[in-house]
Amino acid sequence: MSKRKIAAGNWKMNLSIQEADKLVTTIVKSQRDKSVHTLIGVPFPYLMEFKAKTRYMDKVDVMAQNCHHKASGAHTGEVSASMLASIGIEYVIIGHSERRADNNETNDIIKEKVDLAFANGLKVVFCCGESLKTRKAKKHIAHVKKQVKESLFHLKKADFDNIILAYEPIWAIGTGETASPEQAQEMHREIRDYLKTKIGTKSKNISILYGGSVKPANAKELFSQADIDGGLVGGASLKADSFVPIINSFS
Ligand code: PGA
Repeated sequence: MSKRKIAAGNWKMNLSIQEADKLVTTIVKSQRDKSVHTLIGVPFPYLMEFKAKTRYMDKVDVMAQNCHHKASGAHTGEVSASMLASIGIEYVIIGHSERRADNNETNDIIKEKVDLAFANGLKVVFCCGESLKTRKAKKHIAHVKKQVKESLFHLKKADFDNIILAYEPIWAIGTGETASPEQAQEMHREIRDYLKTKIGTKSKNISILYGGSVKPANAKELFSQADIDGGLVGGASLKADSFVPIINSFS
């Protein structure tokens, strides 16, 4: 994957299939800039339906919101990377802060998920980000680098072709508070520089998305920063009225 403009929506645990169907139809009809790659993070029960619906669309694809860190077995209610691959899913979000918090997902567990995703040919949208407490203590950059190092730096250089990173400060997720373009750009540059120590100049080609209360009103400014290649959008991806303008915000 080379660096692209990416508008990724993360529906989380929202929308009925009927609501979702209307939303996807509108998004597909309204995307102006055909160079933008739109990804939609769909709840597990809808994945096959929306994979089929977007099958012939170049610029729209679906992502799973998670996969388990074990290959298979007695894990009631869980979904494996190989199951996702077997229904044709290409992308999976791994390491979202809500999963880290709700399910005690450590950097090590996330590393296992990343390995299984790659073993099954999936592409990974890897989330990282700090809490407000960590930022206030001025440890945010070290914290994010640690997340990246402990879950990704064991990978081969070639694996990075199949990773999209998403920087999502926890204090900005679902709070209405957004990192300023400068705060976001600073962290994205730090992440890219850090990746360079591992994969060299290839780091230029990695897409790094910003997530945390992205809205139509702030998307343009965020996406115009040098190291911000798009957004991972939660709340505002649930309505066409807000997600479509975000998709069309790239200059
Ligand atoms: P938000 O969520 O846009 O609602 O802040 C972002 C995310 O969690 O991916």
